[in-house]
Amino acid sequence: MEGFPYLESKESIQSYLESVAGGEGVGLDDLRLATTLDNRDKLASFRAKFCLPTIGEILEGQVIAEGVDTAQDCMYFNGVSLGLQPKGARELITKHLDKWALQGMEGHVFGHNSWMPGLEEMLSRGSAKIVGAKPIEIVCMNGLTVNCHLAMASFYQPTKDRFKILLEKESFPSDFYAVESQMRWHGYDPKEATIFVSPREGEHFWRTEDVVQLIEEQGDSVALVWLPGIHYLTGYVFDMETITKAAHKKGCYVGFDLAHAAGNVELCLHDWGVDVAVWCSYKYLNSGPGGIAGFFVHEKHAHNQQLPRLLGWWSHEMKTRFVMNNILDLQAGAAGFQLSNPPVMECLSLKASLDVFADTSMRELTTKSRILTGYLEMLIEHYLTKEKAKPGSQYVTLISPSDPKQRGNSLTLQFSFPMTEAYQRLKSRGVLTGLCRFTHTRVAFSPLYNSFKDTWRFFQILKEITV
Ligand SMILES: Cc1ncc(COP(=O)(O)O)c(C=O)c1O
Repeated sequence: MEGFPYLESKESIQSYLESVAGGEGVGLDDLRLATTLDNRDKLASFRAKFCLPTIGEILEGQVIAEGVDTAQDCMYFNGVSLGLQPKGARELITKHLDKWALQGMEGHVFGHNSWMPGLEEMLSRGSAKIVGAKPIEIVCMNGLTVNCHLAMASFYQPTKDRFKILLEKESFPSDFYAVESQMRWHGYDPKEATIFVSPREGEHFWRTEDVVQLIEEQGDSVALVWLPGIHYLTGYVFDMETITKAAHKKGCYVGFDLAHAAGNVELCLHDWGVDVAVWCSYKYLNSGPGGIAGFFVHEKHAHNQQLPRLLGWWSHEMKTRFVMNNILDLQAGAAGFQLSNPPVMECLSLKASLDVFADTSMRELTTKSRILTGYLEMLIEHYLTKEKAKPGSQYVTLISPSDPKQRGNSLTLQFSFPMTEAYQRLKSRGVLTGLCRFTHTRVAFSPLYNSFKDTWRFFQILKEITV
């Protein structure tokens, strides 16, 4: 199979798509282009590893537009909220429900696939590959917001001169509230302790040079730079490497919320020297609703016993954990940040997804998702923008960065009519996107299960609802 080239610019993606269409002698909006692209897709077989609902199933009990074929697969572009279920999850969980039923407590340590400590290590190894880390730097535990707090408990250590946190103004509420509450917890007023970084007036995205300049100017008072890896609304990718370097030069710790980046774009957390990072696993990592979250602490902190942290019995070395003499034998690396014994069923559903990721690489996934997003972008820009739409008809505005290196696998759309109406029209035709703030919708591709034909069908529906 031919596969796709790894392309790094909008122009190269568009000329690739044009050349494939030209080779087939078809227009850009022709279904045959989508079919050819699906035939070239080396990851196409991964779709069968996921439970993809039909339109009838996903919209059961809800409004379905007239004439919709409910037996067709739905167009699921909502990995930004909740990834689809890997088929392996049910089998794995059922197997372990049986193990629990038959072995009870013994299941923890005895028999095939015991839960302790093997499962934790498997998750660390699988996640490390996805975020560009070493297994010692990763642990899967808790929920994301809890992990934000645990990260800050260690890496926000304010002093009289260095007590500020640099934060993105349009932060996701959890980050915003976690940062504010951490400041108050330490006795600081968020109004005095927060430095906000924003896009320039009239722009949607953050310029790296502005972030770096802010760090250079105010970094001496900053204890922690806390930013998203990818912005949840626009899909903009922050330049984590450059920001980390600039912040370290000024003596600040650096942490990233990777909720929208883990499993979406290539990350090199270890090589970039990031101090701490957290993410959820239910979006692009398909671990299921409320799935167990990820936590990265750089190897340089792995043996630092002086690093302040919150502790529990799971912070303690496995070998001596059950001696229970209350003399802490702290685990090295990220594992030493655990508090509780992990929820096995949540770990298993994440494992089922990591098993799928193990058969590919973030480079392969990024290669495909750039062509997928570029394909939809091209169709919208050719036919549905304000300039291109037929006079008097509705239109679509793209809010995402046009440089594929600056965005993940999602495109953010606005419509010339109210978003809630657009969202409902899409949904009733079997298109599931991520509604956000009731003003934007995020079309989030998963290269593991989305096809070019899905995207073409979605484009037909966009045409239908914007006439
Ligand atoms: C950027 C970001 N941070 C934090 C959260 C909160 O996650 P949780 O509810 O798993 O703590 C989310 C949830 O979508 C998110 O998108």
